[in-house]
Amino acid sequence: MKLTYLSHSCFTLETSTHRLIIDPFLSGNPLATVSPDEIECDYILLSHGHEDHFGDAIAIAKRTGATIIANFEIATYCAHRGAKAHPMQPGGAWRFPFGRVKMTIAHHSSGLGNEDGTATFLGNPAGLLITADGKTLYHAGDTALFLDMKLIGELDKIDAALLPIGDNFTMGPEDAARAVEFLNASLAIPMHYNTFDLIKVDPKRFVDAVKAGGTGTARVMSIGETIEV
Ligand code: NI
Ligand code: MN
Repeated sequence: MKLTYLSHSCFTLETSTHRLIIDPFLSGNPLATVSPDEIECDYILLSHGHEDHFGDAIAIAKRTGATIIANFEIATYCAHRGAKAHPMQPGGAWRFPFGRVKMTIAHHSSGLGNEDGTATFLGNPAGLLITADGKTLYHAGDTALFLDMKLIGELDKIDAALLPIGDNFTMGPEDAARAVEFLNASLAIPMHYNTFDLIKVDPKRFVDAVKAGGTGTARVMSIGETIEV
C-alpha cells in the first residue's frame, strides 16, 4: 500500500485496487497543501466526528461518489446529506472490495460543533485497522493511551501505526511511544501535531521516546510524502 501524509490526521492510502482517504481535514487546515477538490478516492474513512477529522468528507464523497466508512451516527448523518455511507461500530470488521476494515475503541469524544455552541452527537470515536495487500495499518484516530492497545496488537500484526502525538487533546509523544510498545507495531508514524498552537510538539520527542523504548521504529513523514507500507 502507498501511504501519503496530507497533514494533521489525514492520509491517503493507495492499495493495488482502490484509493482511500482517512480523516480528510483539508479546508481550514493551515498545514494542508492539497485542496479537497483535488482528491480522487473510492472510500473515505472517518475516525470520529470532530471537524478536524470529518473535514471535507461530505463534499469529497458527493463529488467523487466515494463511500464514507464511519460509525453508525456519522454514517447516518452523511447519508442524510446525500453521501454514500457504510456504518460500523468498534469491535466490528467488514470486508470491502479493497480489504478489511476493523473499528477499534478510542478514548476521546466525537461531537460535531454547531454554530450556536452546541454539538451534534456523532457516536463514539474509533480507531481504524485497515488490512489490504497483505499489510495492516492502524490509524488510532484521536485517543488517550489505553492498555487494550496490547490486545489490538495481539489480534492483528500491525505493519504501521499512525499515532497522535500532539498532547492536550490526545496522547503526547511519550504516551504515544508507549502505544508503539503495546501495539508491537513495526513502524510508527506521528500525526495530529503542530496544526494548531494547542498541539505544538516537536516530533523528535516521539522518535527519541520510541528509540528509548527499544521496540519498533518511528518515522516522521513530511507533508506530501509517500511511503510504501
Ligand atoms: Ni478529536
Ligand atoms: Mn482531532
